Amino acid sequence: MPRIVVTHPIHEAGLKLLRDRFEVKVHEKKELSDTDFKKLVKGADALVTLLTDQVTAEVMDAAGSQLKIIAQFAVGFDNVDLEAAKQRNIFVTNTPGGISGPAVAEHALMLMLSVARHTVPADAFMRTGKYKQWDPDIFIGRQLTGATVGIIGTGQIGSIFAKMCHNGMGMKVLYSDVNRNEDLERDLGALQVPKEKLLVEADVVSIHVPLLPATHHLINAEALQMMKHTAILINTSRGPVVDEKALVTALKHKHIFGAGLDVFEFEPKLAEGLAELENVVAMPHIGSATEAARIGMAECVARNIITTFAGETPPNNIVK
Ligand code: GLV
Repeated sequence: MPRIVVTHPIHEAGLKLLRDRFEVKVHEKKELSDTDFKKLVKGADALVTLLTDQVTAEVMDAAGSQLKIIAQFAVGFDNVDLEAAKQRNIFVTNTPGGISGPAVAEHALMLMLSVARHTVPADAFMRTGKYKQWDPDIFIGRQLTGATVGIIGTGQIGSIFAKMCHNGMGMKVLYSDVNRNEDLERDLGALQVPKEKLLVEADVVSIHVPLLPATHHLINAEALQMMKHTAILINTSRGPVVDEKALVTALKHKHIFGAGLDVFEFEPKLAEGLAELENVVAMPHIGSATEAARIGMAECVARNIITTFAGETPPNNIVK
């Protein structure tokens, strides 16, 4: 019977599907050192991994030559050495953005509105008893209805976010992507523009690209300088896409209005100075943290593994 090793408990909806068919070992919720990770995977036919697991060639070799699939419990898979998996004929699957996309897009929307309307400092103001009477001059924010949103990366998550902004708040949509997105152009009147034009014109810039060598520090000091002083930056993708040190400088000097971040360059740490800034909303990487998304992701992981051991290519295989 195939042995499935799960590095962290995932939703029971997926675990049950796996337990009904396979021998399943779930590592309890605790930190996994490199050494323990290699011990844990020994003899596994399939691995279920989180984005925090560094799935290197050594880990694959520690598992053994019977390893058939690495089923990543996330959209992003920058933590998996795809080349090493390819050389060893191991499938790598993810849980595509269509599953957790609504949750992540809602989270991006929440971050955008929270930054625009000073939600976090205003909440602290209330809790510390500073609110004495209605005051027309406090917490003046930015109205985003009819404003322009610039979406960097219009895969499934970026597209869902674009629709929420356009259909919900009448926002104009600019996008920058290596591929043309005819659906967004037709349905939302979205306009594909070079990244530089998007940065200059957007009132909100939201990042939805994977972390690749080409997207590392895609938003650097120069890019931040191009943005409007009134603009908001949202990042729910991967931290290193933004040069966080440059972002702290831009926020400190009010080169941009604010930022909503769910991911960090040196996660779980924040760049020096970020935590002291009032024009940032920082979240602990919880974009996909809804019950619906977790169930969908767990079932997706199970489907990919079940298909693999039925002798077929799993539906969400990334290694071609
Ligand atoms: C979360 O960051 C994911 O990639 O699913």
